Amino acid sequence: MKALVLAGGKGTRLRPITFTRAKQLVPVANKPILFYGIEAIRDAGVTDIGVIVGETADEVMAALGDGSRWGVTFTYIPQEAPLGLAHAVKIAEPFIAGEPFVMYLGDNLIANGISRFVADFEAGDSNAQILLAHVPNANQFGVAELGADGSVMRLVEKPLDPASDLALVGVYLFDASVFEAVNAIQPSARGELEITDAIQWLVDSGHTVRPYVIDGWWKDTGKLDDMLEANRIMLDAMQPVISSEAGEGTVFHGRVSTGRDTVTVGSTIRGPVVIGDGCEIREAYIGPYTAVGDGCRVIGAEVEHSILLRGSRIEGAGCRVADSLLGVDAAVRRVPSVQSACRLMIGDNSEVDLV
Ligand code: DAU
Repeated sequence: MKALVLAGGKGTRLRPITFTRAKQLVPVANKPILFYGIEAIRDAGVTDIGVIVGETADEVMAALGDGSRWGVTFTYIPQEAPLGLAHAVKIAEPFIAGEPFVMYLGDNLIANGISRFVADFEAGDSNAQILLAHVPNANQFGVAELGADGSVMRLVEKPLDPASDLALVGVYLFDASVFEAVNAIQPSARGELEITDAIQWLVDSGHTVRPYVIDGWWKDTGKLDDMLEANRIMLDAMQPVISSEAGEGTVFHGRVSTGRDTVTVGSTIRGPVVIGDGCEIREAYIGPYTAVGDGCRVIGAEVEHSILLRGSRIEGAGCRVADSLLGVDAAVRRVPSVQSACRLMIGDNSEVDLV
């Protein structure tokens, strides 16, 4: 069994945050989304992992390395352009070399890992296994229509009028017959070779495609609200580690994790919260579901339910920053006469002056 992780493409929906970096590397609870997927694959006992990389190949490769930190091996497979999920499968054929494999979309997070799906597929005799989840906004996903007997009848990519509320989750299991499928299909209206069409081809040509409706949570983290929700879920599950104790006048309530060389003075930190290495928190309130990246500063300010990327800072904001994502080295500062709450999504190196 091998794995194919898709970490190419363009992060258009999270721009400007992903303008300069891979959307799969945006951290949730201070850990890149992609790492959760790698861990899920490793925990399922799969260690030979191909990684599709695109425009952001350098960053992805620098973050993942050779895989030794997870006890896995990475083979990087460059994709010349984001030509579709089925195109990614096509170019991975020499790496997969006829073995069954699990394909994992690098921006997906799934509760409780994937071990049981991998084990089921290995034990069974289906050609493909897909995971489905009930969602309120099925038109934003690949959508499955099941027959009365529960078998897969039709799969449509982002239909205007979805036939069901069952979205395709970004974890798929295939045997080598998928290569016949990806070579048989044509690009869709959006110009991509769709994996949805490849799976439909398998169904239509009499292969066994087994659906599996999951009941735990799952997130495709392409948008700000999804990132914040994923951050909340991951912080809820966090095992806190305190590497820097609370400083003078600071109180930690609930589950708070701190990294090394982080200074907290005169502040209230109400978990679940994770704070990275080398941060400075002074006269501040850090509220639940906040992830503060390495080297951040929160001074004379309040923040909750937010993600602060590396090096970002909030200084005397004068309002409680909530439901926000601050890019790398972004700054929010106070300029007098600010009132009420604000909601921000600002890019790397941006500065927001509140007047
Ligand atoms: O998240 C689940 C959904 O993922 C499914 O419901 C859809 O059926 C499936 O098509 C896919 O839809 P998205 O529009 O969300 O896919 P996205 O373009 O975001 O790509 C998913 C991941 O694959 C992302 O990490 C980028 C990477 N990718 C994407 C393309 C198109 C590549 O590595 N190469 C590509 O050519």
